[in-house]
Amino acid sequence: MSPRLDSSLLVDNIGELVTNVAGTGEGGPLGIRRDAAVLVEGDRIAWIGPATYAPAADRRIDVEGAAVLPGFVDSHAHLVFAGDRATEFAARMAGQPYTGGGIRTTVSATRAASDDELRANVARLHREALRQGTTTIEIKSGYGLSVTEEARSLRIAREFTTETTFLGAHVVPAEYADRPDDYVGLVCGPMLRAALPYARWIDVFCERGAFDADHARAILTVGQAAGLGVRLHANQLGPGPGVQLAVEVGAASVDHCTHLSDADIEALASTTVDWTSGAETTTVATLLPGAEFSTRSPYPDARRLLDAGVTVALATDCNPGSSYTSSMPFCVALAVREMGLTPAEAVWAATAGGARALRRDDVGVLRPGALADLVVLDAPSHLHLAYRPGVPLISQVLHNGVPHHE
Ligand code: NIG
Ligand code: FE
Repeated sequence: MSPRLDSSLLVDNIGELVTNVAGTGEGGPLGIRRDAAVLVEGDRIAWIGPATYAPAADRRIDVEGAAVLPGFVDSHAHLVFAGDRATEFAARMAGQPYTGGGIRTTVSATRAASDDELRANVARLHREALRQGTTTIEIKSGYGLSVTEEARSLRIAREFTTETTFLGAHVVPAEYADRPDDYVGLVCGPMLRAALPYARWIDVFCERGAFDADHARAILTVGQAAGLGVRLHANQLGPGPGVQLAVEVGAASVDHCTHLSDADIEALASTTVDWTSGAETTTVATLLPGAEFSTRSPYPDARRLLDAGVTVALATDCNPGSSYTSSMPFCVALAVREMGLTPAEAVWAATAGGARALRRDDVGVLRPGALADLVVLDAPSHLHLAYRPGVPLISQVLHNGVPHHE
């Protein structure tokens, strides 16, 4: 149901409001206000202020002193697939390494699935994510790996989000195993053309065993010239050229960043907003702790990135192989426990950081004019997300101004 444009809703009696507007109240970048209220008109925030001065509204939700945050922005997810790889996970927990080789298993299952089966799976995961507070989600293709299959995945993804990413260069499919150059040609030509009506972003898995820096550069450059924004999977399984390539091509985000050299961190720290033109040139480092968790890999050193001034985002990487979780609260807890982030840094990275990684200024932040995407916690403070891991603390979700009900 879409909200009546003239309808207003007051979220009242908020004990702790995380706005992500730096300089507001306490909490540095979290911009925390106490005893606040938020007025929503249509799908946008119209007013934020002290609860005592709250204006009248058509409807009112009293959150009774709970914490309220911007909805989570999950900037990295692979939701269009069929089947699962639970047996592969069990083998890993018994000592097998993760190599990405299982991607082809999911490609076969995805190609064999009907549109309705794929759509139902995306709907299930999308619902699961929303229930856990995710109000913006990026969805990649990458388990089709042919012209028609990649277009089909993106068409289905587009039914759920505007943040769609063409990942035809996930791996080289089996039928092109002996001629990777031909596959890159296909991705850069007919596959890209078929993807364009449905995609906002282009992505490549730049890693030994997937695509090298030359192939990745060729694909990203042609995608960029066709009007797509650029993001990259890099430095997941080992050190490599991906992070620096991402900076070179002006990617909005480089994701995984598990194995980083000093030069990688320096390159990321050199990206920033160009204040003369106002252009956003920051390359965000998007960390995916669910992948390290599910592949038993070392976690990236997020502390080093933050101390160097790099913008960090957190995302789920939800996919059936390396990270089958849709839970941003779980990723926040992992980032705090395993990657050296403070609870405040992790909450910022999962909301405002994700928005930066998608170059959006209307989500991940609570200010007049932003989308009314709000999460109410069953807790008095954002600290509880990491402090109470595994507990379903998301009590209410407002998405585009509309309360989400199961
Ligand atoms: O981001 N690294 C490449 N792609 C996915 C994993 C895909 C899979 O194993 O199915 C990732 O981890
Ligand atoms: Fe991924």
